[in-house]
Amino acid sequence: MVILDKLQQADYIQLENQYGAHNYHPLPVVLEKGKGVFVYDTDGKEYFDFLSAYSAVNQGHSHPRIIQALIIQAQKFTLSSRAFYNNQLGLYEKFITEYFGYDKVLPMNTGVEAVETAIKLCRKWAYEVKKIKENNAKIVVLDGNFHGRTLAAISASSDPSSYGGFGPLLNGIIRIPYNEIDAFKNIIKDPDIAGFLIEPIQGEAGVVVPDDQYLKECFTLCKSNNILFIADEVQTGIGRTGKMLACDYVNIRPDILILGKALSGGTLPVSAVLADDSIMLCIKPGEHGSTFGGNPLACVVAKEALTVIKDENLTQKAFESGIYFRQMINELIQRYSQIQSVRGKGLLNAIVLEDDRELAWKLCIKMSENGLLAKPTHGHIIRLAPPLCIDKSQLEDSVGIIEKSLRSLI
Ligand SMILES: Cc1ncc(COP(=O)(O)O)c(C=O)c1O
Repeated sequence: MVILDKLQQADYIQLENQYGAHNYHPLPVVLEKGKGVFVYDTDGKEYFDFLSAYSAVNQGHSHPRIIQALIIQAQKFTLSSRAFYNNQLGLYEKFITEYFGYDKVLPMNTGVEAVETAIKLCRKWAYEVKKIKENNAKIVVLDGNFHGRTLAAISASSDPSSYGGFGPLLNGIIRIPYNEIDAFKNIIKDPDIAGFLIEPIQGEAGVVVPDDQYLKECFTLCKSNNILFIADEVQTGIGRTGKMLACDYVNIRPDILILGKALSGGTLPVSAVLADDSIMLCIKPGEHGSTFGGNPLACVVAKEALTVIKDENLTQKAFESGIYFRQMINELIQRYSQIQSVRGKGLLNAIVLEDDRELAWKLCIKMSENGLLAKPTHGHIIRLAPPLCIDKSQLEDSVGIIEKSLRSLI
């Protein structure tokens, strides 16, 4: 029985275990505060945050400008629903469509809702514009993908721990290998293919970076076969990879762009689907929606979060910090055979350890003891993705912690 007035970390963990569903496997650290690149546990211990809430906190924890915008709007008006107009949504829609260069935005909340929305939008377009026979539209997805946890997203997944035991799954999804252009070429002539859904870097799969050429060729194939190129930039977008969008590395403008996570700087669930009129207007009033999507609080917060990215030059910072970070990790690789490689772009990186799941978990535990939080993505791969505002000396300190932690384990 937990006494509720003076809780220790173990008590908080026990509460979650007893009263919460067991659908996560967290590191045994209980956080209560965040500021910039740091988070703090209930004993006041400071950690570098190298997960950034799965890249939702690109701007840094509790960014003062984003929090200020949130507080001011929260005191005024938080939710109108879309049954009525509100005085923030239109302003935000104008702002974000100009920011990313699209005609229209459809505002949602979580990343996976935006993915669902994009799939629905693509199917509508398939029937109304491409004239695919009703119920025949297919979406191509890729092995190793992670698009979230709804039924549509897990129907796309190649990971049995995502889809296993949750059937029946959704029809109309074709999965092919990632980064293998011939696999796409082999199926592309199917006239029922409506869309191609891709993460330009696969984050959850362990920061898997495809060849530039692959992305370009996929895009060209989509164009020449009247297939919508749908980029899931929920994790890679908004400066994380050292460009505003990971697709910017190859100058691809997706037909449908999916954003989430850092769109609110980690304060609220805010996501978005962007497309031009010829696609977006296929969805008519009453055909899709969300009670909270486009709420005035989210609109104000997202505008500020995107403005902070530009004002603080965070995209360019991520680009430069990423180069320096990988250079430092490459130096470690020379000295520690346990690290096989480092990969990534900007500040979305991963180290691949020798094929030993236990080492990855132990290293994350040791790093947390030494003041840095990160988690394995898949077995022996650890994603390292700090807030983009991390500075040079903080990066050096972080690599120092990684090295010290590894050294103590071997
Ligand atoms: C590429 C990608 N798409 C979609 C999602 C789902 O986002 P959410 O957890 O906000 O639903 C994630 C989450 O990690 C993601 O990385």
